[in-house]
Amino acid sequence: MARSCEQALGLGVPAVSFTDHLDFTAWIGGDRIAEEGLSADRYRRMRPLDVEGYLAAIDDCRQRYPGLRILSGAEIGEAHLFNVSAKAVAGRASYDRILGSLHAVPLDGQLVAADYLFSHMPAAEVMRRYFAEVLRLIAGSDLFEVLAHLDFPRRMWPPSAGPYEEKAFEAEYRAILKALADSGRTLELNTKSPLASVELLGWWRDCGGMAISFGSDAHQPWRVGDKFKQAADIAEAAGFGPGRDPFDFWRRT
Ligand SMILES: [Fe+2]
Repeated sequence: MARSCEQALGLGVPAVSFTDHLDFTAWIGGDRIAEEGLSADRYRRMRPLDVEGYLAAIDDCRQRYPGLRILSGAEIGEAHLFNVSAKAVAGRASYDRILGSLHAVPLDGQLVAADYLFSHMPAAEVMRRYFAEVLRLIAGSDLFEVLAHLDFPRRMWPPSAGPYEEKAFEAEYRAILKALADSGRTLELNTKSPLASVELLGWWRDCGGMAISFGSDAHQPWRVGDKFKQAADIAEAAGFGPGRDPFDFWRRT
């Protein structure tokens, strides 16, 4: 985390948010995943997030790097399925920034990694299943403020399926963007994924989207702020610009 802060300061990035993954290995009463009878076996290898340790590390970074705005946060995976579990953790940690994301989708009664689907069905079908589940995520959870990597499996799009065309999924993108905008939330421009086009961010604007968050999804210190210059150019060309202060989301202009 300290090295990530140093990377941000070196690049002149005014603020960072450490949105550690918050995923669950088991459900508790009321979690929708149990009602739906889905197995989350793929999560068994994960260890619980050490929330107190995490918050102590955030505090330490704030002391060491007073010139950087440091937000606490989490990226909740499948928050619509682990609704009760996620709410309990989020309430305890009082995060500054919560992302909602989807890495797994239901298949034959099991939650499976989205990229696993590529070996089981046509690539376009994988994306459609993923997008349909993202819609359920948005409708089924109000815990998060920002939708992370809205087309995550695109990262693993098989070359044998030809070039990935956003346009082929325009209807699915628009449905997601509309639902996100209607709920007053913010779209992440994720710079670890292939960068969204100006056209896609234009759909966000058309659908009523008001704000964009830049996310490098870094996982490694050297990746903090990666491709932000290109991402900012794309956002600007789509009609978004800096917000009220350097720490704000970018807003529609
Ligand atoms: Fe993610």
